[in-house]
Amino acid sequence: MSERRKLVAGNWKMNGGLAANQALVQALRAGVGQPACDVAVCPPPVYLAQLQQLLAGQAAIALGAQDVSEHEGGAFTGDVSAAMLRDFGVRYAIVGHSERRQYQGETDLQVATKARRALAAGITPIVCVGETLREREEGLTEFIVQRQLSAVIHLNGHCISEIVVAYEPVWAIGTGKTATPTEAQAVHAVLRTQLGAATEQADRVRILYGGSMNAANAAELLAQPDIDGGLIGGAALKAPDFLTIVGAAA
Ligand code: PGA
Repeated sequence: MSERRKLVAGNWKMNGGLAANQALVQALRAGVGQPACDVAVCPPPVYLAQLQQLLAGQAAIALGAQDVSEHEGGAFTGDVSAAMLRDFGVRYAIVGHSERRQYQGETDLQVATKARRALAAGITPIVCVGETLREREEGLTEFIVQRQLSAVIHLNGHCISEIVVAYEPVWAIGTGKTATPTEAQAVHAVLRTQLGAATEQADRVRILYGGSMNAANAAELLAQPDIDGGLIGGAALKAPDFLTIVGAAA
């Protein structure tokens, strides 16, 4: 048995609004109780201040961001720095989500730099890695995720045990197609071994699974020895589903 406390993080993506956020957080607060795992919600950045207020006075649900700038500050229009996130009580920042790699052209080096900025501000980066369907079919899964993680390890050296990794096969995101528990576990084990070559504390690093994880399939995925939680997209927008996943991580 690992001593890793599981983490279930909701990635709201570009969804929500003032009223919807309030209703969702109210339902989550009412239902979460004292969870046996860490829980976080990651709203769009303009709502971080609202969520900070909605989450005040409780410790069960932490606040996360969906991205962080690779720059420390200055003339970077539209960017949000790690220090700014910290001002709003942000504890986690997703970096290198496949949607940002794909639509914003983020490189492995940029993702690694973002992870470093987050760590320097005391924010835990949730570093996403994952292969496309084509890469999987070409037998490149291990090569791709190792390349993506290796950039982060290279730049963050001695801090690497402080990160969270999320394995998110691109073909499983938002598609309703989930990696089987066996498929996911195999990749998680590869990532754990890679971390083990970089730190003696690889056993401490949480490796989340993401990609169509939902209320029905969460328990089986979370039962795998190297699956330490979930990064949840669609199912994070429905309080009962998200809470079921939190319960499954107990
Ligand atoms: P999904 O998204 O759960 O909707 O597949 C997961 C993610 O992109 O983090």
